[in-house]
Amino acid sequence: MKGYDSIQHVRGESVFIDDIKAPQGTLHAYVVYSKIAHGVLERIDTSEALASPGVHSVLTSSDVTGENQIGSVIADEELLAAHHVHFIGQPVALVLADSKINALRAAKKVRMDITPLQPIFDPREAYEKGSLIMPEKIFTLGDTESAFKECDIIIEGKAESGGQEHLYLETQSALAIPSEGNGIKIFSSTQSPTAVQKITARVLGLPMNMVEVDVTRLGGGFGGKEDQATAWAALAGLGAFVTKRPVKLVLPRQEDMRITGKRHPYSSDYKIGLKKDGTILAYEAVFYQNAGASADLSPAILERTLFHCTNSYYIPHVKAKAVSCKTNLPPNTAFRGFGGPQGMFVIEAAIRKAAKKLNMDPVDIQHKNLLVEGNEFPYGQITEYFYLKRSFEHALEKFSFRESQKRIAEFNASSKLVKKGIAVMPICFGISFTTTFLNQASALIHIYTDGSISVSTAAIEMGQGVNSKVRNVVAHTIGCNHNRIKVDTTNTSRVANTSPTAASKGADLNGFAALHAAEALFDRLQKVAAAELGVTEEKSISIKNEIVYSGEQQTQLTWEQLIWKAYTSRVSLSSQAYHATPDIHFNKETSKGRPFAYHVTGTAISEVTVDCLRGIYEVDSVKIVHDIGKSLDPMIDRGQVEGALAQGIGWMTSEEVIYNQEGRLITDALSTYKVPDIYAAPKEIIVEFLEDVPNPYGPLKAKAVGEPPLMYGIGTFHAILNAMSAYKDDDFEIVSPITHERVLMYLHDSK
Ligand code: MTE
Ligand code: HPA
Ligand code: MOS
Repeated sequence: MKGYDSIQHVRGESVFIDDIKAPQGTLHAYVVYSKIAHGVLERIDTSEALASPGVHSVLTSSDVTGENQIGSVIADEELLAAHHVHFIGQPVALVLADSKINALRAAKKVRMDITPLQPIFDPREAYEKGSLIMPEKIFTLGDTESAFKECDIIIEGKAESGGQEHLYLETQSALAIPSEGNGIKIFSSTQSPTAVQKITARVLGLPMNMVEVDVTRLGGGFGGKEDQATAWAALAGLGAFVTKRPVKLVLPRQEDMRITGKRHPYSSDYKIGLKKDGTILAYEAVFYQNAGASADLSPAILERTLFHCTNSYYIPHVKAKAVSCKTNLPPNTAFRGFGGPQGMFVIEAAIRKAAKKLNMDPVDIQHKNLLVEGNEFPYGQITEYFYLKRSFEHALEKFSFRESQKRIAEFNASSKLVKKGIAVMPICFGISFTTTFLNQASALIHIYTDGSISVSTAAIEMGQGVNSKVRNVVAHTIGCNHNRIKVDTTNTSRVANTSPTAASKGADLNGFAALHAAEALFDRLQKVAAAELGVTEEKSISIKNEIVYSGEQQTQLTWEQLIWKAYTSRVSLSSQAYHATPDIHFNKETSKGRPFAYHVTGTAISEVTVDCLRGIYEVDSVKIVHDIGKSLDPMIDRGQVEGALAQGIGWMTSEEVIYNQEGRLITDALSTYKVPDIYAAPKEIIVEFLEDVPNPYGPLKAKAVGEPPLMYGIGTFHAILNAMSAYKDDDFEIVSPITHERVLMYLHDSK
């Protein structure tokens, strides 16, 4: 089955915000932002900008009609800076003009007097100075202190992981249109329509029912539009509210890269203790999260780092502490994995160092300590329906890991400058929003009298294929053809109180909601058909290929006739349904509970070749065995695994976010920020889904897919280090991304 949108995409017919035919009189917005990382905003002078050709108005914080506050978790972020600026890129004013170019020209004429204050960019420095977003968080299991006494070896070290630019193809965008009675309708490129609705209402001083948010699709989000699409929608909304004209705001690429937050860089310390045979007894870690200038989603992201700090391993004694450090950088935000990758990166580094010390193969330590059914996580949850070890052993066997290791050792023995490396990466990722109340969704289905169907849910399509999956669920449940079903836009007037499409839960939550709504309709249709056909056993009615069956018996009744019959019999053809993930809970005080409905697991084997003279490398292959449950759409899931892998490899290898000493992003273009291209992608990718692993907690027994495979990229990082170790026997520092430049310096720096 082709993806729902693929034909339109290929023809360039899919509509993104900037493609919406803007109504006559639309004003174009340009955001004026601080060029100083930290300071007192003494004065803003807009007079010259106002006099610039085509300018309608220039808005500043004093024009905000409601609250100048957009913080979602913590109220610590102004829409437009009022008295202080906290990072380079912080919005200070909004220029509205008759064209994009006039808005840009005028924006350059807005003057700001800022008295600089001392900025902080380093998370450890922020921690020492007490600059925190919130109090630190600790997860504990067992007693590390006494466990370390039982260990044969103890290793301590540091690991650094870098930021990552989302680089969604569609930059942050919104179109706001004044509606009757002083309301606003906003077309937004957001993963969180309700957040946009709520915050815009707050900013304008309106009740939520006066703000309607509509989302057709996103040109990618990757977490970057979970919280950070809101500001642009609220700004466009404010512009439209104040001017009574439609306002369009589309961030130019470079501005988008400069102004918006990214994946959080982390600086971490670890201490790991093992027995001589490789059994991990105790693990401690401290995570310093570089949050940037305001909270955004950092608290929840920090928590997920703790949830995933032991990755795929059972460790009986764990103490992990995490601090969210406030710095003068753009607020960092959700990015595929949501803090999980940063946690997993550190335990894998610790295992690497421990293996070296014990003179063991890291794979044997990984294997020995894998979580199995019935184990306890540091947060108290017990593993269930857990096929991690199966994927690990199957991957090693199926992809001839031991033979590859031998082949690589032989190659390395005879090749002086070019070395190969191989590494294994098991993953284990918890599925559910860790903020338990977000695990809910609803759906609204209408069947029209011609038999066509419209489905609305809270899900946002952003390329991940959730619309195809929802459509599959409805078609499967009702028995009609796929092409009857239109998955409609996500709209806050049709489906209210939406959770973000995030945490890989989009298809899970909305798939279930759509399933329930479709079941209710099918139930009614069975009754109508039974009455029409004179069948007493209505549950024996089914619909296949749009023909009604009574038991195995094909009848004369078609789909279209059945729908018309239902309508004329005055049976409702609309259904609204709700789903909340059952049996999940988490006590924030004790940090214990069952936060996840289930876990997604799998294993990847990465193989790379490093040119040790030049420092460059290629990824030869990544071979994966992955647990997807019973897939809702195998082609989409394969694409998700491959895409997440590529993004994970990019994060670990070439994508380097660099700010200069003033806190200005210098990797603010595709010439200086290197995302993996077709040459950097693995030459070979094999994705095998485990068979016969139905997931009782997923719609139609499926598992979520979006985020977990990103973490396979950590394996590629280790494969590169392994190749480098074959060239130079060194205890390389664990710093990602391991760029070509860094490889060269590690191998040839004379220290
Ligand atoms: N795939 C594409 N093509 N584009 C995206 O923006 N976002 C990822 C993932 N896959 C994304 C994507 C992220 S961060 C998440 S949380 C999930 O998709 C969200 O969608 P789902 O819950 O429906 O899987
Ligand atoms: N994942 C993504 N987004 C979130 C989460 C989560 O676990 N919790 C709150 N927002
Ligand atoms: Mo995904 S980072 O949960 O949007």
